[in-house]
Amino acid sequence: ACSGGGADDGADYPTENIEVIVPFSAGGPTDTVTRLVADPMGAELGQQMVVQNVEGAGGTIGAGEASRARPDGYTLLLHHIGMSTAPALYENLPYDPQADFAPVGLVAEVPMTIISRNDLGPTTMDELATYIQQNQSTITYANAGVGSASQLCGLLLERALGVDFQEVPYDGAGPAIADVVGGQVDFMCDQTTNTSGQIRGGEVTAYAVTTPERLESLPDLQTTAEAGLPDLELSIWHGLYAPAETPEAVISKLEGALQTALADEAVANSFSDLGATVPAAEDQTPEGLAARLAEQTALWGEVISEPVG
Ligand code: MLT
Repeated sequence: ACSGGGADDGADYPTENIEVIVPFSAGGPTDTVTRLVADPMGAELGQQMVVQNVEGAGGTIGAGEASRARPDGYTLLLHHIGMSTAPALYENLPYDPQADFAPVGLVAEVPMTIISRNDLGPTTMDELATYIQQNQSTITYANAGVGSASQLCGLLLERALGVDFQEVPYDGAGPAIADVVGGQVDFMCDQTTNTSGQIRGGEVTAYAVTTPERLESLPDLQTTAEAGLPDLELSIWHGLYAPAETPEAVISKLEGALQTALADEAVANSFSDLGATVPAAEDQTPEGLAARLAEQTALWGEVISEPVG
């Protein structure tokens, strides 16, 4: 046996910087969540966790790249609910989200808000619903590509309103919301980690949040249930993954560092300020993430009846 732990069993992991792939543009919700935990995780592990944005195709480009990385713990993926929707959305997905990854743990739960550019006209969800129904062939909806959370929310919104509106794909919700603020695109369903600042700053018009109860961070914003869309309840869960076959010693070190980061009061405060919540302790584990991924993959496989991408 190797003394001092050879590279293959990860006993001395980490001995160099760790790359975390974020499969969407910098400055968006996934990037925000990742950067909030990367620094405290790196401090715990004694190595820098460097965020690498690998955009495109609703997060499937970055996830695919992570699935092919060496299983040595130096290339990780931080991705969200899209890990569970992509198999139903893409005929030929270049990876299997359950077989090709070793889950580390759930990182965050993030609600979504329905927002529009300020001069669209409607001011309540009722008025927006009517406006969408009356202008469905001209109104534009921004999303981050097929497989993104914003695309999933858009799908649910179309079904709730019985409409089919035009979608404008971006490489992330960061650039997308910039165009909602700028007025180049009409409306969007996006995560509070990305919209809270713009809503509080009055740069966009907000209509509803997809949580059962109102958020402390956005107390004036109606829930979708209050706004007459009870089926539009959605929490964007985020998980940290390593490639399948990554040594167990590496996974457990990453799991410990994730739990330490999520126990950090500064992280919890940042999350709550952005409407996000820290997952339950038992979900900050490989088993917790694996269970959530399996359950959600089955759920969305049912809901998303035909592939889109
Ligand atoms: C992002 O980080 O840009 C978002 O997760 C995109 C999305 O999933 O809507």
